[in-house]
Amino acid sequence: ETLDATGQFVLPGAIDVHVHFREPGYTHKEDWETGTAAAAMGGTTTVFEMPNTHPPTRSVVELRQKQEAAKKAYVDFGLYGLLAEDNIDELQGLIDGGVNAFKCFMGNTFGNLPSPSTGAMLEGFEIVARSGLRISLHAETASIMAWRQKRLVEAGRNDPLAHIAARPAVVAAEAVARAAILAEWTGARVHVLHISSALELGPLRDAKARGVDITGGTCPCYLLLDSSDYARLGSVIRVNPPVRDAADSEAIWAALKDGTVDLIETDHAPHTLEEKTKSVIWEADCGFPGVETQMPLMLNQVSKGRMSLEDYVRYSAEAPAKRFGLFPVKGRIAAGAHADIAVVDMARSETIRAAGLQSRGKVTPFEGETVTGIPIHTLVRGRFVQRDRTLVTGAKGHGRQVTDIQKMPTPVLHNQDQTLASVLRGPG
Ligand code: NCD
Ligand code: ZN
Ligand code: ZN
Repeated sequence: ETLDATGQFVLPGAIDVHVHFREPGYTHKEDWETGTAAAAMGGTTTVFEMPNTHPPTRSVVELRQKQEAAKKAYVDFGLYGLLAEDNIDELQGLIDGGVNAFKCFMGNTFGNLPSPSTGAMLEGFEIVARSGLRISLHAETASIMAWRQKRLVEAGRNDPLAHIAARPAVVAAEAVARAAILAEWTGARVHVLHISSALELGPLRDAKARGVDITGGTCPCYLLLDSSDYARLGSVIRVNPPVRDAADSEAIWAALKDGTVDLIETDHAPHTLEEKTKSVIWEADCGFPGVETQMPLMLNQVSKGRMSLEDYVRYSAEAPAKRFGLFPVKGRIAAGAHADIAVVDMARSETIRAAGLQSRGKVTPFEGETVTGIPIHTLVRGRFVQRDRTLVTGAKGHGRQVTDIQKMPTPVLHNQDQTLASVLRGPG
């Protein structure tokens, strides 16, 4: 069986460190089959799946449940464990049980998981630091948002822009700065998810300059949409953190180019059309699917000359692989690396239609956009999972957890003699 790739490009499959596949608990929105089918169609060969399912991935019991659900996967995956107020004593079990990274919701979002106090966060960072696993942060400060939303609701505000007013950039930037100092103190590796504002870049840049192992990611919506799109898209555009002004988007593009923002992730967050379109803005679920449209949307930017294909590969595959411990086995095309491949046709155009997505979330802010640059085949460890724009249904279950290939160098730990655990253990 041969493949004619004349005139096409062979890229490492995208590694998306931020997807929500909803199983267990919210399978009317998505499950492991539909979510990873969406990844396969989108040229994404590895995903890291978030713990805000029901039940959340808060201990090794739920981790095993998730591994069971993930047996349907088309593509390879990492699993996040939760780092929250009420599961600090479960973190070591999750590490020993094989999670690939941790997720800390500093502010509430879908699933309404209680955000940890700074004290609980610090203890969590102390524990996870020793494992070398990265802690991804939903960096928005809960107390600021709660106050602002209360004031807006009291004032009777019910419009898409009130969503931004409840979660202005300072909400995110304050959280980034606070998490960065905890990472600096403990030596924990952290990743700032879904960077949406210019203001977050300052504390991120400063922390990097001080040698903190901190990375940043952004999503297509923060690069390609801005506040002028709210009038057109209404509650469909509602996402945490919010899409902001064109100046924010410009700053994030520049930060990708200068390396302050390391990678592109999707925050694939499917909800039903009904859950997305509510007359009261506060009731519309936040987020939308992304794993299937990321590569076409970003390759379209390559087509337009906004970035090079080499840069795109760095943001979509190489940087996530390096930062989450998968390099050199994943994220590049080279002898000794897995054949995780997206073959792309840079001359092909398609129009994005939510109705045609594999995801159960049949709603996207990019509805009707025609993009040029399409992944026409996807291979995971040498096997087709998508061929000629068609899902290879026989490849269901081919996806594996990446646990066995983690190769993170030992982190530089700080102040380990002052961790709660070591002080409670006492001298000797
Ligand atoms: C995400 C979800 O729906 O799980 N929603 C979102 O608006 N981004 C949660 C999150 O990443 O904050
Ligand atoms: Zn988030
Ligand atoms: Zn998310």
